[in-house]
Amino acid sequence: MSKVKTAYYCQNCGFQSLKWMGKCPSCGEWNTLVEEIVNKDNKKKSSIPVNTANIKLIHEITAQEQERFVTSDEELNRVLGGGIVPGSLILFGGEPGIGKSTLMLQTALQNPLRVVYVSGEESEQQILLRAKRIKHQNSECYIVNETVIQNLLPIIEQLKPQLVIIDSIQTLTTNVLESAPGSVSQVRECAAEIMKVAKTSHIPFFIIGHITKDGSLAGPKVLEHMVDTVLQFEGDQHYLYRILRTTKNRFGSTNEIGIYEMQGTGLRQVSNPSEILINQRDEDVSGVAIATILEGNRPLMVETQALVTTSAYATAQRSATGFDLRRLSMLLAVLEKKYGLKLYQKDVFVNIAGGLKVEDPATDLALAAAITSSNYDIPISQRYCFSAEIGLTGEIRPVNRIEQRISEAEKLGFEKIFISQSNFKSLSHTSSYKIQVIGVNKLESMFQKLFKG
Ligand code: TYD
Ligand code: MG
Repeated sequence: MSKVKTAYYCQNCGFQSLKWMGKCPSCGEWNTLVEEIVNKDNKKKSSIPVNTANIKLIHEITAQEQERFVTSDEELNRVLGGGIVPGSLILFGGEPGIGKSTLMLQTALQNPLRVVYVSGEESEQQILLRAKRIKHQNSECYIVNETVIQNLLPIIEQLKPQLVIIDSIQTLTTNVLESAPGSVSQVRECAAEIMKVAKTSHIPFFIIGHITKDGSLAGPKVLEHMVDTVLQFEGDQHYLYRILRTTKNRFGSTNEIGIYEMQGTGLRQVSNPSEILINQRDEDVSGVAIATILEGNRPLMVETQALVTTSAYATAQRSATGFDLRRLSMLLAVLEKKYGLKLYQKDVFVNIAGGLKVEDPATDLALAAAITSSNYDIPISQRYCFSAEIGLTGEIRPVNRIEQRISEAEKLGFEKIFISQSNFKSLSHTSSYKIQVIGVNKLESMFQKLFKG
């Protein structure tokens, strides 16, 4: 086998060098030189005749409706846009320990497919232990402990699997490059090899990818451009809930999310998350209000909690878990200025129950209600929920997809939902709801309804 020629290229300016250097002598950037394969055949290309088979008018292309494989995991199907598309490349990222390997092994074991699970991260014994916890047996799941891509591809060719899972791309290496596994050039070369196989053999590939400290997928950005779908597994390791999202999907919407709960026997699909995110209490307590938010396309009811206490120190403490602290400061300022709550000498702690991080501005109204409820120590009924944004002037602003939010609250048996007046006006048939829909245009009038007396 002839040795493949490689050279080091600066990723910033394109400078080429035969040796690795810490600093690019051309542009002066540090650590930008990366080993790449030198394509010696460049000159030959010009003499190749044009391949007309690759050129078509758009109406000449025959549409082939791609038959998706619908897995037993409804959350995964939904996030992928209705199942796994043959020949698709799916990059699956997430922090260490979040449950990527668990979800993939579950997919391998709970579907009647011939699966090749390539593991460079764990030994066969470790995978067996995990498989035993998951307790589902697929007799055609092959575990392959091979990390050199040139050795792996013949195995895949021979086994002809219907699904391949690579755990993880950072452990794969190609023997044409000398750089360490996980380096930019290794990841890119391996992914390119995998893509060629996926597109010619129509085998779908799941590729697990590590995440860097700042939350982006480790390795080159080009990886995200190459694949068809990018999945992200999120959640706080200390809480049980995990959210599966897509940040890119060539075969479906990126608005869908999947929710799982980590149990002793693997990840369980959570089909009705609202019921779990709300604590069931026997009596109403102060400082709690329920918000109807949207996560992707899915309406969720989340419990917002607030604790307002007299501060022991000169500067009051403000702390938020699962909610943006700056947004909390803004809400407190609005409550103080527009509603006259005296909060400057009070410590305010807010929390979103269930370890969820909410970004939907529709949480504002519930949180303002929870803070006020805690301040006066008057409980709000657990049968009420809230969905509106609060502006700097204290106005109650409309939020998107209000019908969907109302339906979710109605489905779960809530009595009243407080929304903005302009959202309320846009509704065509408020009388047909079983839930009482209340439009509010001022915090004051809503608080009077909630805490009168
Ligand atoms: P893992 O899938 O190894 O995470 P990743 O591949 O993303 O790094 O999951 C690791 C965690 O999941 C581990 O801390 C243990 C926990 N876990 C359970 O709680 N129950 C289970 O059934 C399994 C298999 C794992
Ligand atoms: Mg893992």
